[in-house]
Amino acid sequence: MQITVPHNVLDLAGYLHPNPNYFQTRQRLRYLAERYLAPNVLTDHLTDLPRQFTHPHQRRWETFDWSAIAVNQIVGLEPKLFTSMIAASAEVEAPIRAYAEITREYLQSVHPEMTRFVSGSYDEAGNLIEVGVWEKEERQHAPIFCKIYQQLVGEQLVPQTNSITELAPVRTPVEALYRHAVRRITTEWSAVSVYLWLMAHSTGALQQAIAQPLQDEVNHLAKFWGMTRWGFGDSMQRRLLTMATQAFNMFDHHQGDRTTSKTIVQLSNLQSGAELAYIFTRVLRQMCSWNAHLQPESLAGLFGRRPVLKSV
Ligand SMILES: [Fe+2]
Ligand SMILES: [Fe+2]
Repeated sequence: MQITVPHNVLDLAGYLHPNPNYFQTRQRLRYLAERYLAPNVLTDHLTDLPRQFTHPHQRRWETFDWSAIAVNQIVGLEPKLFTSMIAASAEVEAPIRAYAEITREYLQSVHPEMTRFVSGSYDEAGNLIEVGVWEKEERQHAPIFCKIYQQLVGEQLVPQTNSITELAPVRTPVEALYRHAVRRITTEWSAVSVYLWLMAHSTGALQQAIAQPLQDEVNHLAKFWGMTRWGFGDSMQRRLLTMATQAFNMFDHHQGDRTTSKTIVQLSNLQSGAELAYIFTRVLRQMCSWNAHLQPESLAGLFGRRPVLKSV
């Protein structure tokens, strides 16, 4: 299909090449990672967390023209592969309520304020009385990807809900909590990487639409990353190893959940695989260099003394 994008323009991913090669797409990916995961952006998201505990508030979305989203805003990728990834993104974004409940089980006794941010408040009988900010933001993501899919394909997408991946048993509750926290970080990292890849391959209103859930995911990634660093003081090596193991397990588990996984596998080529590998790594690189600034004193200044996790 002929891609018809305007020449010589800058968009959210930098310079827009009408028919980009691998290196030009890589430049766009790097531009996006450096823009949306700049150290000051990550720090702003993390320092917002104590305010969330006292005054819960959702991140505001930028406005864009829904009706302007069109298939000719897909850049340098077969529309079928692009829309398959949009469909997969809609499916990965559900079921958010179940994810929030699981986090509550792990976190309630350790950090009630963070539990409220993720999964809301409950009355004494255990009924939900206020939805958490994280859950409110996440709930918007599946519908936005369904809407983008419909705009591009002209058909309604009925997403197949994700099944929940169980974490393997561990020896101590503290270890279980750590593994759960890193699982949340791993899912946010995956979402950030895939949405940046979609943004590198789009422009105009289509790119602006994807930028909204993307910024929510960066926000969550920075908050979960910083909180976990504060709570556990874990080394970068341990964090990366746990993330890599979990990413592999999740990919393996969710293959069967995807309506379009066969299409993605059939259409995937070496270049898309290399681009995805690049952006997953580039996002991690941004996080690792920011992590060096998350020293115990600065985290204690934000969140207070680290909890004694032996009592978990
Ligand atoms: Fe999400
Ligand atoms: Fe998220």
